[in-house]
Amino acid sequence: MESGKVALITGIGGQDGSYLTEFLIKKGYRVRGIIRRASWPNTQRIFHLMKEYEVEDDDNSRFWLRYADLTDASSLRTIIEKFKPDEIYNLGSQSHVGISFQNPISTLDINSIGPLRILDIIRDMKIPCKYYQASSSEMFGISPPPQNEKTPMLPQSPYGIAKLAAYHLTKMYRNSYGIFSSNGILFNHESPRRGINFVTRKITIGIAKMLTGDEARITLGNLDAKRDWGYSKEYVEAMWKILQHHEPEDFVIATGETHTIREFIEECFNLISMPLASNEKQGADEKYFDENWNVRVDIHPKYYRPSEVPALLGDASKAKRLLGWEPKTKFKELAKMMLAADLKDRFERAGILPIEPGVEKPDEFYLEKARELADKLKLKKSN
Ligand code: NAP
Ligand code: GDD
Repeated sequence: MESGKVALITGIGGQDGSYLTEFLIKKGYRVRGIIRRASWPNTQRIFHLMKEYEVEDDDNSRFWLRYADLTDASSLRTIIEKFKPDEIYNLGSQSHVGISFQNPISTLDINSIGPLRILDIIRDMKIPCKYYQASSSEMFGISPPPQNEKTPMLPQSPYGIAKLAAYHLTKMYRNSYGIFSSNGILFNHESPRRGINFVTRKITIGIAKMLTGDEARITLGNLDAKRDWGYSKEYVEAMWKILQHHEPEDFVIATGETHTIREFIEECFNLISMPLASNEKQGADEKYFDENWNVRVDIHPKYYRPSEVPALLGDASKAKRLLGWEPKTKFKELAKMMLAADLKDRFERAGILPIEPGVEKPDEFYLEKARELADKLKLKKSN
């Protein structure tokens, strides 16, 4: 255990926010987070921490949540004045690239002006607070792989452009005002807590629902894009290491492996011995069948983006050299972990497996159960 430092996390209810909170509490931090008002609970990923730690207004509490919003400067200032954080992790954002084409203005407000609001409060209050900016490989856009800290940034989406503005503001506040502000340029990272409309999770949930009979097929967009997918739980450690480095700097965090979306789909179907037997492709009109010619994966133009980032592959050698950070979980382990978690969840909901709180079974147990169900489905279709 360390310190008793105070960390403030925006986006604490998100995938990374939830893992970072667990990580920092273990390190001995007092963690404070902001959530925004929602009409339906947006604290599902941190509910276990709320149950374990939240106590009424108490400066010594390990975990404390307050309402605020990255679009509301006064709410941010109130929070920063109240908690006097040693470190701020700005993870809050409209994080869906596809949706940023539909909501470009709010995306820039949250993802560019949001960070600027925080940086300017730190500058104005003259507090010795370190600042972490959740920058993104989406900023590289069409720059060919591999990408590192020196690669030109040519973003292709409102999201990428918004993140690039925040990246430069983070550097500018560091260089102009001496603030300890650093960018983590993180490549795609996933987990069983990934939002359900990102492609990996859409695929793993889709397969689980197919097996329980809740859905007949998965409908996707461009399968040719390549992504460098890592594990969120390992990436939050890199965020912390970035702020512990002796000086503020920017770091690429990635696995150094890249795969197409098609490869992710194939890996998941292979894991449950339901290989995709054949496919037809005419432009965007592509379908994947099983051996009985039932459609399993379908392509719809609505999931294509007006412009795409074709290939991401990160070179994280600077992080390895200066921070001693290296990824452990890569593509195959990640696909297996995510698929097993969704199989468990859907099987329990469907009553196929009993709910056993606190009982942990290996991923292979759920995959084996899925193979049994897949065999039954095959038999049913061939009869
Ligand atoms: P996520 O699961 O979508 O979480 C985003 C969080 O931001 C949510 O808690 C969301 O709250 C919150 N948020 C959205 N708008 C807000 C606002 N106006 N004010 C305050 N909070 C707001 O994203 P993630 O995967 O954890 O990613 C964390 C950060 O890293 C994001 O900034 C993302 O852009 C960036 N990033 C992610 C990846 C990746 O592959 N995961 C890679 C590079 C960079 P609600 O739940 O209320 O919506
Ligand atoms: N979401 C989604 N849904 N993506 C699809 C689909 C679909 O149905 N079909 C194909 N794709 C393709 C997208 O076009 C993209 O090329 C790829 O799958 C990955 O899409 P996402 O999982 O939505 O992730 P992303 O790469 O656009 O953005 C994520 O990674 C960025 C870092 O590079 C997000 O986490 C961003 O917040 C993050 O900054």
